[in-house]
Amino acid sequence: MDFQLNDEQKMIRDMARQFAQNELVPAAAELDEKSEFLSRHLPKMAELGLMGMMIPTEWGGSGLDMLSYVLALEEISVGCASTAVTMSVNNSLYCSSILRFANDSLKEKYLIPFASGQKLGAYCLSEPGTGSDAANQQTTAKLSGDKYILNGRKNFITNGPHADAMIVYAMTDKEKRHKGISAFIVDKDFPGFYVGKIEKKLGIRASSTSEIILENCEVPKENLLGEEGQGFTLAMNTLDSGRVGIATQALGIARAAFEAAARYSLEREAFGQVIGQFQAIQHYLADMAKDIDAGRLLTHRAAWLKDQGKDINREGAMAKLFCSEAAMWITNKAIQIHGGYGYITEYPVERFFRDAKITEIYEGTSEIQRLVIARSVLKEFS
Ligand code: CAA
Repeated sequence: MDFQLNDEQKMIRDMARQFAQNELVPAAAELDEKSEFLSRHLPKMAELGLMGMMIPTEWGGSGLDMLSYVLALEEISVGCASTAVTMSVNNSLYCSSILRFANDSLKEKYLIPFASGQKLGAYCLSEPGTGSDAANQQTTAKLSGDKYILNGRKNFITNGPHADAMIVYAMTDKEKRHKGISAFIVDKDFPGFYVGKIEKKLGIRASSTSEIILENCEVPKENLLGEEGQGFTLAMNTLDSGRVGIATQALGIARAAFEAAARYSLEREAFGQVIGQFQAIQHYLADMAKDIDAGRLLTHRAAWLKDQGKDINREGAMAKLFCSEAAMWITNKAIQIHGGYGYITEYPVERFFRDAKITEIYEGTSEIQRLVIARSVLKEFS
């Protein structure tokens, strides 16, 4: 077992850290306060090759392994959790699906500009009445001549208002339930495509989240991703890797909170000594450090297995479940260590706490991660 990173991986991590510390950290509080989309960061992220990290260079990406991607994403998440989810959705939910399931002519149009960061992608699975039960898709797609006609409403779509194209799941045959779901690449310029309500959120406020409305949306037949009926498998398979990205986002948020708390505990004095001298604070810091290391090991294991071409359904779910719950605990304790100062916006830990919460919800709630892990465990023993 080798825990060493190679020189290229270290270089990528350091490059992302430098960008995050120099450019994301100074802007994060203001973007959060204004709920302003982080578009100002995207050109530099494109230049640094952060938007299609695992996509081969011939398709516009950086041609790196998943471990390099999570190393970079952790640094970005430390700097700005909103930037991290924008990056994660484009990299793993959008670009990786297109790479795997699209033909070369679709890749020319819908992968190269996205993996190179000129355009932004999104992933439309959730619907107003369809969250955890993803197989219960209500959006429909009917073939009419050389087009599919899509009707339905998607919600909580990360990047929705700013995406140039998105992967949309819809029922082509309702009778078949999950086997009747198909995936489509939908361009924002297609007739019948509309951006609906833009959500106001507790955290990750500099990322954009909206409804997507499809009203007789005309999608060329060739924009079917994979085959008819393959959509659910495609969606689940994509989420297996996507969850490693969210685990990493949670890890980065947790690290940012931990680092702020550790620094504060060496500055703030009470009862004649810095609070870091008190055992109560030391125990919090020790548990934070332990959970961050454990979460990173789970995340790196999942990424490494993916790089070996292995199935990571269980490992991805474990990493996401552990890191997101650890992030909630760590950000909560980081506020506690800051006392009253932790509760006001002058210090960043209240933002970290708000940002952490979504990692227990999107790309599968903690309850769904437990379901995925338990099914895998029971299969092993049956
Ligand atoms: N990979 C490939 N195939 C898979 C799979 C996987 N990970 N998981 C399931 N499948 C296959 C099964 O093998 C089965 O195939 P067969 O019928 O051929 O046997 C089929 O899919 C149905 O599987 P299940 O019976 O397990 O399906 P289910 O209805 O019980 O649902 C679930 C499983 C795990 C609960 C799933 O619905 C799920 O993951 N729900 C959560 C949805 C989710 O994560 N949404 C996030 C939205 S995206 C988002 O948040 C993006 C963002 O903005 C950041």
